Amino acid sequence: MTAHELYATAMRRALELAAHGPVTGGNPQVGCVLLNAFGDIVAEGWHHGAGTPHAEVDALSKLPTNPTGAPDATNLTAVVTLEPCNHTGRTGPCSVALIEAGIERVVYAVADPGPVAGGGSQRLRDAGIDVIEGVGGAQADAFLHAWLTATRLGRPFVTVKWASSLDGRAAAADGTSQWITGTPSRQRVHEQRAQSDAIIVGTGTVFADDPTLTARGDAGELLSHQPLPVVIGERGIPATAKLRKRPFVEARSRDLSAVLSDLFDRGILRAYVEGGPTLASSFIEAGLADEYVIYLAPKLIGGPKLAIGDVGVGTIGDARELHITSVESLGDDIMIVARPGLDHTQPPKGP
Ligand SMILES: NC(=O)c1ccc[n+]([C@@H]2O[C@H](COP(=O)([O-])OP(=O)(O)OC[C@H]3O[C@@H](n4cnc5c(N)ncnc54)[C@H](OP(=O)(O)O)[C@@H]3O)[C@@H](O)[C@H]2O)c1
Repeated sequence: MTAHELYATAMRRALELAAHGPVTGGNPQVGCVLLNAFGDIVAEGWHHGAGTPHAEVDALSKLPTNPTGAPDATNLTAVVTLEPCNHTGRTGPCSVALIEAGIERVVYAVADPGPVAGGGSQRLRDAGIDVIEGVGGAQADAFLHAWLTATRLGRPFVTVKWASSLDGRAAAADGTSQWITGTPSRQRVHEQRAQSDAIIVGTGTVFADDPTLTARGDAGELLSHQPLPVVIGERGIPATAKLRKRPFVEARSRDLSAVLSDLFDRGILRAYVEGGPTLASSFIEAGLADEYVIYLAPKLIGGPKLAIGDVGVGTIGDARELHITSVESLGDDIMIVARPGLDHTQPPKGP
């Protein structure tokens, strides 16, 4: 096996480890394995969530210590899914921990795009450590897509979700909409809420449905992670709304970019937009939808209550191109996940 193949295999293991970490909480899911000179894994680690040691430090903590009590990584290679960080937050910089442990080489998959944490690779190189970037880059990039998008753009990764009949209606003509989809779909929605930092709705939905916006299990129990409810709209939240019994954000604005920027500053990196149709359409029109989760129920409703309204497409050539990333049957329903066809998250290329 060549060194590259060895690192690629170790990177796949590091990605498996990364997946143990939480998707919410603002920090990336990162995994790390430490290899000895024979290519054997001698320690593994992953990031367990905000405020806990980063993956590299978690892996280093499993090594024998040298006489000063520090982990001894002499002659070892660290294979890590994300560039080791270079800043002191609630924990110290991973690049420094690796240098102090005497690591020989660091192999990582994707660069950290953050202006604060990035630069760890240069610090490692400056300390004379062999650094290899890009091993397993495509897989790690896909795995960290939401976090990387949020970090690059300085706003949460936005998933727009709706449930509709096959003919694209979100409600009947009289406004009744519970329940268009079946139990398995609704359960999946709760799981997706629990994997989000925030659920966003418009004031129209709060006035119409008075939702609690909690993430609940099969028996109605609250799941361990609860997203922050965010209501956007100038009318604000009615005094009697059920939401008022929970911490929430009342964004009395229609400026979606400004609201997202504010949420990012609060550590919200994954936002789940649940509608209604007016707000969802505005997110799409503004180019602020990074992912679509569409639940389709085998019903026809007809009438005026469309799941999505005007998204700024006046002619077919301007239709928003999507690519479907998955299609899944949930009971009688279908869940489609799609993303914008063009990578709208990249800054425009220069001349
Ligand atoms: N099937 C589904 O998946 C689904 C999901 C959710 C809701 N629903 C249904 O949808 C209905 C409510 O939908 P809706 O369309 O009336 O209300 P909505 O989309 O929840 O809220 C619309 C309001 O959002 C505010 N807003 C904030 N920023 C905006 C922007 N940039 N552009 C436009 N509006 C902005 C405005 O409120 P202000 O006037 O206060 O500024 C606007 O009136 C309910 O019947 C609910 O049951 C269905």
